[in-house]
Amino acid sequence: MYSEKELQGGLTTKVFGRKLYVYDSIDSTNACAKTFATKGAEEGTVVIADHQTAGRGRFGRTWLAESGSNLLFSVIIRPTFSKDKFGLLSFFASAGIALAIEPVTGKQCECKWPNDILLNDRKFCGILMETTFQKNKFDYIIIGIGLNVNQRNFLGDLAGKATSLSRECGRELDRRSVFCEIMSSLELLYKDVSRGDFNKVLKEWKVRATIFGKRITVTQTASVIDGIANDLAADGGLVVETKSGQRVFHAGEVTLAAQ
Ligand code: BTN
Repeated sequence: MYSEKELQGGLTTKVFGRKLYVYDSIDSTNACAKTFATKGAEEGTVVIADHQTAGRGRFGRTWLAESGSNLLFSVIIRPTFSKDKFGLLSFFASAGIALAIEPVTGKQCECKWPNDILLNDRKFCGILMETTFQKNKFDYIIIGIGLNVNQRNFLGDLAGKATSLSRECGRELDRRSVFCEIMSSLELLYKDVSRGDFNKVLKEWKVRATIFGKRITVTQTASVIDGIANDLAADGGLVVETKSGQRVFHAGEVTLAAQ
């Protein structure tokens, strides 16, 4: 893994990544960031690791990533807006990453609700947000980002579904530059986001969304529902026209159905 000094040497940010904890191997950067956050770590603090022994994915899944090839990191933010905006933060992270990646790869990213990022219909980046709040306010939010940069092979279940930046653009990328670009992009968008203004974020996310107007399936723990994806609700929920009328989803996995 790069050293803290090497990574920070490439940053042009004022806050994001300025406090950086770098590990060769750790259980989960999200778990570690959570510990730092509860001890008062400041906004913009990042925990980054080359390898995770218990990387966490959404729905309690494990996030698997080859060491030496990818980016695995967690960013701590402490927005002061009310917790009902939590659902919008996943679009902040996705849009920020897409905007950072595109000039590097020369390819437009696809954003999948709520927070997967794809290239050529395959996922290369997953985001796991974790938070605690008191009354209506956040204590902190951890934005955990797993981004496949130079990994070439994906086994088992991942084989047909996952990809990496290098697979899509046919060359190895410098993980340090990708990380630093993401820090800059997030910091720029966070100027509006920290004030509760998600207009730019939502505009950028929607331009890259591939499901609107299409038939989709939303899978939740106890249900599978089909419908046409219509729009985002004000709180970031997914508005779907189903057989039994319009429904808004706040969790679940979306897949494109046969059109
Ligand atoms: C998903 O399931 O799509 C979200 C995956 C998020 C994985 C990242 S890797 C860095 C950070 N630390 C974790 O334990 N998880 C997130």
